Amino acid sequence: MSTLSSRPRGSRVESDVTKADLDWENLDFGYHKTDFNIRFTWRNGAWDEGELTASEILPLHMAATCLHYGQECFEGLKAFHTKRGDVVVFRIDENARRLGVSCRKIHMEPVPEDMFIDAVERVIKANLKYVPPYGTGASLYVRPIVLGTGPQVGVRPADEYLFMVFVTPVGPYFKSGFKPVHLVVEEEVDRAAPLGVGDVKVGGNYAAGLRASINAKKKGFTEVLYLDAKEKRYLDESGPANFFGITKDGQYVTPASPSILPSITNKSLITLAEELGLRPQRRPVDVEEIFDFQEAGCCGTAAVITPVGSITYRDRKVVYSKDGRPGRYCVELYQRLRAIQLGDMPDKYGWVHRVVQA
Ligand code: PLP
Ligand code: COI
Repeated sequence: MSTLSSRPRGSRVESDVTKADLDWENLDFGYHKTDFNIRFTWRNGAWDEGELTASEILPLHMAATCLHYGQECFEGLKAFHTKRGDVVVFRIDENARRLGVSCRKIHMEPVPEDMFIDAVERVIKANLKYVPPYGTGASLYVRPIVLGTGPQVGVRPADEYLFMVFVTPVGPYFKSGFKPVHLVVEEEVDRAAPLGVGDVKVGGNYAAGLRASINAKKKGFTEVLYLDAKEKRYLDESGPANFFGITKDGQYVTPASPSILPSITNKSLITLAEELGLRPQRRPVDVEEIFDFQEAGCCGTAAVITPVGSITYRDRKVVYSKDGRPGRYCVELYQRLRAIQLGDMPDKYGWVHRVVQA
């Protein structure tokens, strides 16, 4: 492993690093090689200090529990350059906490929250040239992952864990960017069961949804909208993001469900919706309600806010955007969220965490 010593936390780092030669405005949401990732091992009851490495390859025991019993969970957050040149991340404390919840739910060793924050800071500082410049619309996507690496053959938790964080510069999750997408209500595939693991960020949930997502794309839709697996009546979420609707009388409605991921973006939008005079409601949302919304959107770290242009449910289709343009509430929520993330609006809720000072 080639290593790089870490700098003390909160230190000044030159923000005028030469940026990587990338087409920042046209980045896709994909893997783009950077210089370093960071890895920590939990062995004999303790986490080590972690080490930055340039290797993109993992040495892994073939009987590691992540490979056959799905002991794997992850997170997703974004780093941005602000106008004044700082590098910031959004609500990192929430991601740190949620990773702990995911680890505990599938009997993995939880990553201490301060170690999570330290790891993300170290890996961002080691890859500053890949943090997209302010104004490009791109961001540095941060992907923390925990894996059961200890070998087992019986169904048991591993006795060794790997926590690693890699980064990749990204553009919008949906190719269209901030343009309305087209969803189809999924009835043949369940993503997650009410008492299962749909409320945590484990890889199996995404594997479970792949066939639905691929089928929907073949039929010309952008993504699916899942229903609750028990009654097939209430909205859950989309494959990669939470869902919200804006009612004609000004409510921001988003599903309460035991089988969806508690989105940090959605939690933030609930606060911002109130600022816009919308009334937030987190409650079971009957699928029939889609026909009464004036607007709808998907939200998440990768998806940010993606306006929904139409939803198809069986042989009925509701169209929210006739001219291919996002509705006014989606626009206002998007602009407010982005402005806070990029430091263009005061961070009155303390959501922005500075990693590097300009
Ligand atoms: N739902 C799913 C299934 C997700 O993968 C994500 C992405 O993290 C979200 C919702 C949105 O969560 P967040 O806003 O915390 O990124
Ligand atoms: C995120 O939004 O960070 C996610 O992890 C969603 C994923 C499907 C890209």
